[in-house]
Amino acid sequence: MKSRIKPRRALEKFRDLPPMLENRRGKLRLDMNESTVGCSPRVRAALRRLEAEAVAMYPEKENVTARLAPFFGVTPQELVLTNGIDEGLRLVADVFIERGRGVLLVEPTFSMYRFHAEQRDARIHTVSCGADMQFPLDGVLHALKRPPAVFFLANPNNPTGALLDRRTLAKILDAAERTLVVVDEAYFEFSGVTVLPWIQRRENLVVTRTFSKAAGLAGLRIGCVFAHRETARFLKRAQGPFPIGIAALAAAEAALKDAAFTRRAAAEITRGRTVLENGLRKLGVRVFPSEANFVLADFGPRGPKVIGALARRGILIRDQTATIGRPGFTRITAGTLAQMKRFLRELTRIL
Ligand SMILES: Cc1ncc(COP(=O)(O)O)c(C=O)c1O
Repeated sequence: MKSRIKPRRALEKFRDLPPMLENRRGKLRLDMNESTVGCSPRVRAALRRLEAEAVAMYPEKENVTARLAPFFGVTPQELVLTNGIDEGLRLVADVFIERGRGVLLVEPTFSMYRFHAEQRDARIHTVSCGADMQFPLDGVLHALKRPPAVFFLANPNNPTGALLDRRTLAKILDAAERTLVVVDEAYFEFSGVTVLPWIQRRENLVVTRTFSKAAGLAGLRIGCVFAHRETARFLKRAQGPFPIGIAALAAAEAALKDAAFTRRAAAEITRGRTVLENGLRKLGVRVFPSEANFVLADFGPRGPKVIGALARRGILIRDQTATIGRPGFTRITAGTLAQMKRFLRELTRIL
C-alpha cells in the first residue's frame, strides 16, 4: 500500500543509496581513501582526557573555531567547522541550491556533489573528462557562460587524482563571477596546492578541507568549510548549534597541534603511491597520474574478477564501474610501503 505521508518530490524520485561495505576492520582497506597509517598519538591522548563533564555538555564549537582558525591563516568568521566535508556540502546545498537552479559538475567526480544536487531537484549540467581523465577546461569555461548557481570541483579530483594548478583555478574563478565555486581540497595534504588564501577577496569561492584523510580521523567526522565572511555567515545560519561532537572537536585540535605527524603520514603515503603506480604499470595496468592518496587504475575486462580475488585475500579496493560508466576501472588507496608491497605481491599472483 502506498503511504499517504509524502516526502519532498525530489526524494521520492531519488534511489536508495547502496549500503556501504561494513566489517572492514583488520582488512587492508584500500577502498575508501582513508588513512592506513592511523592518527597522531596526541589525538588518542586528547580523546582519553575527555572527562565526564565535557561529555555531558553540549559541545562549544565557537571556542574551538576561534582556536583553530589561526592554524589555517583565516579569521573565525571565515571558518565553519562541519561534521566532515559531507556536512559542509550539505550546507552549501541548503544555502545555494534549490529546485531548478543550475549545478555544474565535471564527471567523473566525487558522488556526493550529484547526491546533494539531485536531492534538491537542481538542473545538473555535466562536462566530461576525456578518456585520458584530464580536466575539461574549455567545456567548463563554456558551461560557466550560462552561470550555474554552484560548481563543485574536487582538487585533486576523486576518482581521477588529477590536480589543477592555481593559474587554471584563477581562470575558472574569473569566469565564474555569478557562480559559487566549491574547491574541495579533501586531499590537500597530498597535493600541496591550495587556493585557501583567496577566500578573503573572492566572494564566489568556498574551500573545503577534512581531517578524514591525511590526519586519519574519518571515524570522528570533522571537516572545515572556508569562505568569504559574508558567504560563511549564510552557511553558519543554515547549520544547527551542535553539529560536531566533543570528541571530534578535541581530536581536530590535537591533530592540528601535531601537524608534523600529518606531514609525515602524508609523505609516507605519497611514497607508497609512487610504488603503487610503478608496480601497477609494470604489471601492464593503466594508471592515471594522481596527486592524491589514491590512484585510478584500468584493469579492463578482468577488473571485477581482480576485485573479487583481492577481497578473498583480505584486500579491499573500490570498483569504479558505475562512476566511469565502463567496467574495469578501480580506485586504489595508497598505503605504507609495506602495505603497497603486500598489495602488489597478491595482485601479481592474481594476474
Ligand atoms: C573529494 C572528496 N570530498 C569530500 C570527501 C568526504 O570528506 P569527509 O570525510 O570530511 O566528509 C571525500 C571522501 O572520500 C572526497 O573524496
